[in-house]
Amino acid sequence: MPIDVHEGSQTFHLHNDVLSYVFAVREGYPLSLYFGARVPDEPEFDYLVDEEYRPSSVGVSPEREYLSLEHVRCEVPFSGAGDMRLPALEVVTAAGGRVLDLTYRGHELSCGKPALRGLPATYVEDPSEAQTLVITLADDVAGVTVRALYTVFSGRGALVRSMEVENSGQATITLERAMSGCFSLEEDGFEMIQLTGSWARECSVARSALHPGIQGVYSARGHSGHQSNPFLALVRPETTELSGEAYGFSLVYSGNHALTVDVDPYHSARVLAGVNPATFSWPLAPGEKFQTPEVVAAYSDEGIGGMSRTLHTLFRSRLARGPWRDRPRPILINNWEATYFDFDEERIVEVARVAASLGVELFVLDDGWFTGRDDDRGGLGDWEVNEAKLPGGLAGLARRINELGMDFGLWVEPEMVNPGTRVWEEHPEWVLHAPGQPLRPCRHQYVLDLSNPEVVDYLYGRLERVLGSADVAYVKWDMNRSLADVYSQSTPPELQGRVWHAYALGLYDLYDRVTRRFPDVLFESCCGGGGRFDAGMLAFAPQAWTSDNTDAVERLRIQWGTSLAYPVSSMGSHVSASPNHQLFRETPLKTRADVAYFGTFGYELDATRLTQGEREQVRAQVAFMKEHRALIQLGDQYRLRSPFEGDGNECAWMVVSAEKDEAIVAYYRILQQINVGRRALRLAGLDPDARYEVREEGAPAAPGVMGLRYRRPLTGSELMRVGLDLTDESAGKLSSGRGDFLSRVFTLRRAGA
Ligand code: DGJ
Repeated sequence: MPIDVHEGSQTFHLHNDVLSYVFAVREGYPLSLYFGARVPDEPEFDYLVDEEYRPSSVGVSPEREYLSLEHVRCEVPFSGAGDMRLPALEVVTAAGGRVLDLTYRGHELSCGKPALRGLPATYVEDPSEAQTLVITLADDVAGVTVRALYTVFSGRGALVRSMEVENSGQATITLERAMSGCFSLEEDGFEMIQLTGSWARECSVARSALHPGIQGVYSARGHSGHQSNPFLALVRPETTELSGEAYGFSLVYSGNHALTVDVDPYHSARVLAGVNPATFSWPLAPGEKFQTPEVVAAYSDEGIGGMSRTLHTLFRSRLARGPWRDRPRPILINNWEATYFDFDEERIVEVARVAASLGVELFVLDDGWFTGRDDDRGGLGDWEVNEAKLPGGLAGLARRINELGMDFGLWVEPEMVNPGTRVWEEHPEWVLHAPGQPLRPCRHQYVLDLSNPEVVDYLYGRLERVLGSADVAYVKWDMNRSLADVYSQSTPPELQGRVWHAYALGLYDLYDRVTRRFPDVLFESCCGGGGRFDAGMLAFAPQAWTSDNTDAVERLRIQWGTSLAYPVSSMGSHVSASPNHQLFRETPLKTRADVAYFGTFGYELDATRLTQGEREQVRAQVAFMKEHRALIQLGDQYRLRSPFEGDGNECAWMVVSAEKDEAIVAYYRILQQINVGRRALRLAGLDPDARYEVREEGAPAAPGVMGLRYRRPLTGSELMRVGLDLTDESAGKLSSGRGDFLSRVFTLRRAGA
C-alpha cells in the first residue's frame, strides 16, 4: 500500500517506488518529518521530531512551552499561534482576530482519488492507481475544520495536496489565506528554478540559490501570466538535467497564484502553493466550505529532466481528458500570421487549398470572422458571423475546408467584450468595473464578469450556438488581457474579496460545460501566447499556444523553459514565415520546422506564397511529422543542451519511446562558429546495450552511411557516454558548417527492431 499509517506513533508514511513523505502527530499537531527519495517504512521516525528548546520563542501552552510552532514544520501551518513564517491558513474569526489552534482530529484512507468540487484536478482511472489520505484538523473555538487531502500515485514520483476548509462554527468567518499545500524541507541548501518572462518571451529559466526570507512566484493578473508560471522547482546545487535531486511544484490553477519558499533562520525551507492571498478574501457562512485548488509535488533523483518527465506523464495521462488525450495531434495551418484580420472566404480557401495539397490536416480560422472585427478595436462579445467576409457562414466555410480533406477549427475569445457590441450596450453590469472608478482598457477590450453565473450562461449559449453551427473539430480559446477593475457588479460589497477566485471558477465552469457539450473537439488554450499555460488549463485543453513569438531561435528558449513542467504534446508550435513577424529574423525553413516538431506542429503562414521548392520541403516536413508524431508527442523527453547555459548558442533535446526502441534527437546551433574542433552530443534515456541505427533527416543518403560519419549501428552506451558525433562532413575543415541557425534532426532505431 502506498500509505502506511502507524497508529501507535501516529506516523503517516506516504510512499511509492520513488518517494517517501512522512509526517507524525505530536502534541496534537501534524508535523512534517521527511520528503524525498524512498526510504523503508518504519513504525516511527521519532528522531526526526525537533523538540529542541530554543530561547525567545513562543510555546504552544504554559504546560508545553518547550514546543514552539516556530521550530517544527507543521503540515498545515496556521496564523496567530507562534509560527512566525507565512502560514497556509489565515482566518479572521467571528471574534475579529486571526488566532487559531488547529489540532489533529482523525484521518481516513481510501483507494483512488476524489474529484475536487468545481476545480480541475488530476485523476485516476482505476482506484489501484493511487491512495488518498485525508487528515482532519479543527479548532472548536474559532469554528474552523480543515480536511487536508494527500494523494500518492503508485509508480510515479508524484503526490498531490489540497485542502477543504469548513466553517464549523456559528458565525461568519473569513479566509484570508487558504493555500493548497505546504511542503517542508529540513534544509535550505537548494536552488530555486522559476519560469519567468513576459509576452512573447515566456518561460525563461531562472535558477538561483535560496536565500533567507521569502522568494517565489506569483500572479495578480487574473490569469497565471506570461511573467510567472505557477511552477517552481527546488534542486540541489549539483543537480543537472540528468542527475541529482529535484522537487517540482505545480499548481493546478489558472487564476492568481502564489508559490513561495520561506527560508527561516534555522535553515529550513517551507514551500507554500495556492491561490494568491493578496487578492483573496473569502467569507464563509456557518456550514459553508471552501475547496482549494490542488498542488502537484514531483520528486526525482534523476535530475531536472526526471522531475519534468514525472510531471509530463502525469499531466498528459491523468490531468488531460477526452479522446485527444492519447492521440497524436493534427497538423494544422492557422491563418493569423497569413492574413491577420484581412481575409474573406475565398482568400481562406486559397490558403487552405495549398495547405491541404501538402498534407496539412486541419485549417484554423483565427481572429476576425465575426461582426465588427476588422481590427482589434471592436467586435468581441456578440459572436455573430460576419457574412460580408464569409457569405456561406461558418457552416459554408467548414464545408469547403472539409471538401479539401481537412478539418475545420475556429478561434474564440469568450471572456472579453468591446464597446459598441450588443452585449456591451445591453449589459454594462456584466463588465468588471468598480463603481465610480475609470474603466481601464487593454487591447481596447474589457473583461466580462465570469464570477456572475448569468454571464457564464450567456457565454455558454453563444459558444454552443457558434460551435454547433458548423462542423468544428478544433477550438482555439484565446484571452488577451490581464484583469483590472476587478469588481463584480452582481456581488454584494462584503463578498467582493471572492471575485478574483470566483472568476477562475466561472471560467472552469464554462470550459467544463463547453468541453462536455463538444467532447470530440480538440481545444487549445491561449492567452496572447503562453499567458495561461498552466496545469489548470490542461485539464480542459490538452494543448496551449506556447507563445505569440514564432521565431525559431526564440522558440528554443521558450519551448525549453515550458518543457520544465509541461509535456511536448501540450506545446502549440508552428512554422511561420521568414522574415519572422515578431523579430524580422530570417531563418531556414528546415530550422523552423525542426523546432516546431517538438510540440503539436503546424504552420502559420500564407501557404500560397510558398515557392515550389518550399512546397516540396513542407510536404516532406508534414510527412516526417505524421510518421514520428506519436513518438515525439507521447515519448519521454530528455533535454540535452540548454540554451540558457554557457554562451546560449546551442540547444538540444530528444524523445525516446517507452520501449527505448526509437528516439529522435534535435540539435540546434544559433550562430555558426569557426575552428571549434570535434563536437559530440551525449544522448540520454537509451538502452545502453541496444544497438541503434542513426540517420540524419535531410542528409544525403549514401549506402552504408547512417549518421554523417557512422559506418555501423552504435550502442546506446556509446551514444550516451561518447556522444553522437556532430562533425559535419559537408562543412569545410575550419568552419563548423552550414551557416547560422543550423538545425539537425537524427532518428535512432534499435537495430533489427
Ligand atoms: C493572440 C494569440 O496569441 C494570437 O495567436 C492570435 O490568435 C491573436 N490573439 C488574435 O487576436
